[in-house]
Amino acid sequence: MTTIFDTIKAVAFEIDTAIKTSDLGYSDSENSSGEDQLKLDVQSDIIIEKAFASVAVVKNLVSEEKEGVLELNEGGKYTICYDPLDGSSLVDVNLSVGSIFGIYEGELKAENLVASAYVVYGPRIELMIATKGEAPMLSRIIGGEFKEIGSVTMGEKGKLNAPGGTQQNWCDYHKTFIDDLFAEGYRLRYSGGMVPDLHQIMLKGGGLFSYPGTSDKPHGKLRQLFEVIPFAFMYEQAGGQAINNKGMRLMELVPSHPHDTSPCFFGSNYEIEALKKAYGIKN
Ligand code: AHG
Repeated sequence: MTTIFDTIKAVAFEIDTAIKTSDLGYSDSENSSGEDQLKLDVQSDIIIEKAFASVAVVKNLVSEEKEGVLELNEGGKYTICYDPLDGSSLVDVNLSVGSIFGIYEGELKAENLVASAYVVYGPRIELMIATKGEAPMLSRIIGGEFKEIGSVTMGEKGKLNAPGGTQQNWCDYHKTFIDDLFAEGYRLRYSGGMVPDLHQIMLKGGGLFSYPGTSDKPHGKLRQLFEVIPFAFMYEQAGGQAINNKGMRLMELVPSHPHDTSPCFFGSNYEIEALKKAYGIKN
């Protein structure tokens, strides 16, 4: 697993340089979800694919930017599902973006995730790694290399609220729930990039990030294998919770297709329990 994390550290530097120096225009292609790809999406994907090609423990790669599974090393043990540049549509306005990695052993379902990691490209590069049974570890670049800063745990209750999805397409009980949090004193923190938004909630002790099912997207927007499950693992390891709209732990998801999405809610315990009440979910 160390070689995988070292590879993620190496690609983080390369992608950061690409973000800072490359053409921000669109490529001629779409990704598997039908979204136009930026040249940077494609470039970041190639950087990651090339870097993992020589890592023997990696059997397969599944990219948010590509259809299907890329077979790498027959004798490998792990499949890495990754979103090379999440929130890339924010690069042109110079907001933070990220790369997300889910490391799976065996069939691609949440219970087979053995570790996850994400990189935040902001004013500085930060890396969070979660492994089983341990609180996620934050690293920052000091003196040109990643140095571990400390493990991250969330409080029982936070102060931040990051509500995703188009509000006019929310159902009434979701709108009431979000309004009630604001009425309780929660502050809005939503950039449109799940990596910096979820990172902020974790580092500031807690709160809620939601991306519900909506009338235009009943199954939500965020992809299970590359986005939802890796962050669900992070939040649980940090002492928080991560559930879907039925109250199921996101760590129990079994995607039927690599690009399946799910409504998702990540938070500290207080907010997730409040959500369950608002959604009529029994514990
Ligand atoms: P993209 O990579 O296409 O920019 O999408 C970003 C994702 C995720 O990072 C973020 O939380 C969410 O989409 C934002 O979606 P909305 O704009 O619908 O809020």
